[in-house]
Amino acid sequence: MPKYIAIAAITIDGKIAKGLNHMSDWTSKEDKLFMRALLSKCDVVIIGNNTYKTAIKPLSKRNCIVFSKSAGRPVRKSANLLYVNPKKINFKSLITKLGYKKIAILGGAQTYSWFLENNLIDELYLTIEPIIFGTGINLFAPPRLAPGETGNKKFGDFKFKLVEIKKLNKTGSVLLRYKK
Ligand SMILES: NC(=O)c1ccc[n+]([C@@H]2O[C@H](COP(=O)([O-])OP(=O)(O)OC[C@H]3O[C@@H](n4cnc5c(N)ncnc54)[C@H](OP(=O)(O)O)[C@@H]3O)[C@@H](O)[C@H]2O)c1
Repeated sequence: MPKYIAIAAITIDGKIAKGLNHMSDWTSKEDKLFMRALLSKCDVVIIGNNTYKTAIKPLSKRNCIVFSKSAGRPVRKSANLLYVNPKKINFKSLITKLGYKKIAILGGAQTYSWFLENNLIDELYLTIEPIIFGTGINLFAPPRLAPGETGNKKFGDFKFKLVEIKKLNKTGSVLLRYKK
C-alpha cells in the first residue's frame, strides 16, 4: 500500500503563508534540512499549482504531480512532471500505475485538504515555527459555510495521534509527527 505523508510548516497562529505567492522563506534552516532529507526518501511530491509556482526550481529534480483544475486528464509536461485534476481521475489507481510507494504531500492548503477529505493522509509532519503572521492561509481550507450554517458537516473531525515531538533549534522550532 502506498504511504501518504503530508509535510507542512506553520506559524504559532496556524498559518502556512501570508498569501498565495508567499514563499516558504520564513521557515528555519533546521526545518528545511529535515524536509529535504524526508523528500529524498519519497518517490514523488504532490503539490498544488499555486505552491508549485513558488518552488519550480527547487522541485525541478524531483518527481512531481501538480494538482490543477486545468488538467482535464493527466498531462505530462516532462519526464518527472505530471499535471493532474484529482476530481477527473481515479487518483489511487494512477499512483498504483506509476508505482509510487512513498508519497510526499507538500500542500498548500487546498491540496492538503483534498488529501484529508479523501482519507489519504497516513502521516503528518508539522513544524511549528515561533512566528505569528496575524493573517494568512490556514493549514487546511475547508469549503465555505453557507449563510446560517453553524458547523461544516462535510469537513471534520479528522483524528490523528501524536507519535513524536522534536525541538529543532534554540529558537524553538518544533517538529510534530502525527499518524492516522
Ligand atoms: N508553510 C508550508 O509548509 C507551505 C506548504 C505549502 C504551501 N505553502 C504556501 O501556501 C500558499 C498556496 O496555498 P493554496 O491554498 O493556494 O494551495 P495550493 O494547493 O498550493 O494551490 C491551489 C491550486 O492548486 C490546484 N488544486 C489544489 N487542490 C486541487 C484539487 N483538489 N483539484 C484540482 N486542483 C487543485 C488548483 O490549481 P488551478 O488554479 O491551476 O486549478 C488550485 O487553485 C503558497 O503561498 C505557498 O507558499 C506553505
